[in-house]
Amino acid sequence: MSSMWNEKTFTAERPATAAFDAWRVRADFPVLKQTVRGRPLIYLDNAASTQKPTAVIDTISRFYREEYSNVHRGVHYLSQLATDLYEDARRTTRSFLNAKHDEEIVFVRGTTEAINLVAQTFGRSKLGPGDEVIVSAIEHHANIVPWQMICREKGATLRVIPMNEHGDLILDAFEPMLSERTKLVSIVHVSNALGTVNPVKEIIDIAHQHGVPVLIDGAQSVQHMPVDVQELDCDFFALSGHKIYGPTGIGVLYGKKALLEDMPPYQGGGDMILSVSFERTVYNDLPYKFEAGTPNIAGAIGLAAALKYFRSHDIAALAAHESALLQYATEKLESIDALRIIGTAKEKASVVSFTLCAVHPHDIGTILDQHGIAIRAGHHCAQPVMQHFGIPATARASFSFYNTMEDVDALVHGVQSVLEVFA
Ligand SMILES: Cc1ncc(COP(=O)(O)O)c(C=O)c1O
Repeated sequence: MSSMWNEKTFTAERPATAAFDAWRVRADFPVLKQTVRGRPLIYLDNAASTQKPTAVIDTISRFYREEYSNVHRGVHYLSQLATDLYEDARRTTRSFLNAKHDEEIVFVRGTTEAINLVAQTFGRSKLGPGDEVIVSAIEHHANIVPWQMICREKGATLRVIPMNEHGDLILDAFEPMLSERTKLVSIVHVSNALGTVNPVKEIIDIAHQHGVPVLIDGAQSVQHMPVDVQELDCDFFALSGHKIYGPTGIGVLYGKKALLEDMPPYQGGGDMILSVSFERTVYNDLPYKFEAGTPNIAGAIGLAAALKYFRSHDIAALAAHESALLQYATEKLESIDALRIIGTAKEKASVVSFTLCAVHPHDIGTILDQHGIAIRAGHHCAQPVMQHFGIPATARASFSFYNTMEDVDALVHGVQSVLEVFA
């Protein structure tokens, strides 16, 4: 099996990323200091979820120790404090995305809930028989199934922008798909399965020329690149807190104010109303109309701490470091004859998916785990992507700014051990 390795594997130059000190960043993440199975933990499962810096852990801990209460309904000190912190978190998120208004920031559970919210409100009110929603061939299930559900209910059709063999969308096919029947385009910014960075600005501009609004699934983009929703001019943008160093159970739906105002509520209950009687209920203003019940207060405050922490870094330098990691990993992995990289798009971010001939991705993941290396194996909730490439699953390493070139070396040596086991 060692013949599957060639010279290049061992001689690939490590690119210099002197401008960014990943070792200093690592010190902010307590979980990374541990050993796993007797080896230092090498965490390369960041597309599934990122680890949490001390700044986030401490903020959540302080909130529960010193500041906790329910929000919006109390006149007492702690309730006002918690309300201020929660609404501050909204302002921080607004500024992070450069949205125009605080009311355009709706706290939800994550990207999945954000997309379901739009499908069940905007989709439910706008779609009728014969109408169409456009997604792409590289979507996560979270940006397929909610649209399938509402399209089926309304007699509408889900249309799919195709991709080529590299995992790039075939944009020439997109514009002819738009018509007066198209009610929404919903597109992933960065693919979790392939790492493809979609030209979302171009897609938005084309859709807008046809008067069609666009939702961007930003679950895999905000942690790797600056995102400005006004500059993009997207109509909706969804993100998950846990993928950008924040807590689980919190995410954001950004929506243009006029669109959100026009949409019916998602869930009914407390906080989303101004008045209720058995005869008539008056819904609350934005964004509370979409935040029924006690929200994830600690989650929102923790998310704001994560966004502030993330923003305290030089994002251009961080992105350059992650891109150097990806390039180095790609060069080293693709020099292994038995290895096939799945997803070779023109522009990629932080994800390298691969298969090894005759070794199931789950076996790759299990053997790497014995080396303390955490990757993900499976279909990555993107089964149509797997079908496109004619495979059931891939092994996926995904990088964060706290990963180092040494992590990549360990991954490559781990893959070598996998090949030795199956030799
Ligand atoms: C591209 C993409 N969209 C949507 C989601 C769903 O995110 P969540 O599970 O946080 O709701 C994910 C999660 O991996 C994702 O990668």
